[in-house]
Amino acid sequence: MKKEKELYSGKAKSVYTTEDPDKLVLLFRDDTSAFDGRKIDQLARKGMINNKVNAFIMTQLERAGIITHFDRLLSDDESLVKRLEMLPIECVVRNVSAGSLCRRLGVEEGLDLNPPTFEFFLKNDELHDPMINEYHIRAFGWADDDDISVMKRLTFEINDVLKQLFFEAGILLVDYKLEFGRYHGQLVLGDEFTPDGCRLWDVETREKLDKDRFRQGLGGVIEAYEEVARRLGVTLD
Ligand code: TMP
Ligand code: ASP
Repeated sequence: MKKEKELYSGKAKSVYTTEDPDKLVLLFRDDTSAFDGRKIDQLARKGMINNKVNAFIMTQLERAGIITHFDRLLSDDESLVKRLEMLPIECVVRNVSAGSLCRRLGVEEGLDLNPPTFEFFLKNDELHDPMINEYHIRAFGWADDDDISVMKRLTFEINDVLKQLFFEAGILLVDYKLEFGRYHGQLVLGDEFTPDGCRLWDVETREKLDKDRFRQGLGGVIEAYEEVARRLGVTLD
């Protein structure tokens, strides 16, 4: 399937229409951003690694019965996906404390969260993705009651599948962000699942293997993403 015209270009991916009105091409770029786009860099190979890791994760989720937008890999850095009408909402589940949770609540990093927490954020860089709740979502019509319960149910089902999958690879799934969209009326998982949008720590050493290496200037960003791919059994070259 060929790319036709660019529909949208985000911070790390570009989206193209195709001859099929129900399908889009996602191009995973090497651009890497943090802090709502205030820190930006180009990391060679990142687009390819994320495309392949995302394809692997989406395929595993489909196998577990979760409907995603993923159709198939097209090339090293492109995938074919269903065209969704995205909700402007980010769903975050945390199994271990880190990031904005620690800043907001003054808790230390690395505490087990049992049960895991669930948070909604509004997808809006200018407003720094503020945290919102179900009342905001309903009041502003970003989604309805059914959508809210489907997003919560799917996000936790995905947690069960992915926590296990990463654990078997010696990786702790600390937290992650998901986005959903509508496909012919049904809410399905969209966007991506890559080390850009989650926190992954080595189970033993708790070494960070995700975008926090970039956010915190720790170096070895691509090496860490490659290590995640290697441990999951994703073939890169
Ligand atoms: P946070 O600790 O910054 O709130 O992020 C929680 C998790 O969600 C972390 O794995 C990063 C991911 N995330 C994104 O990838 N993009 C976003 O815009 C937000 C709010 C979170
Ligand atoms: N993805 C967002 C950004 O690029 C948030 C982050 O990952 O820090 O700004």
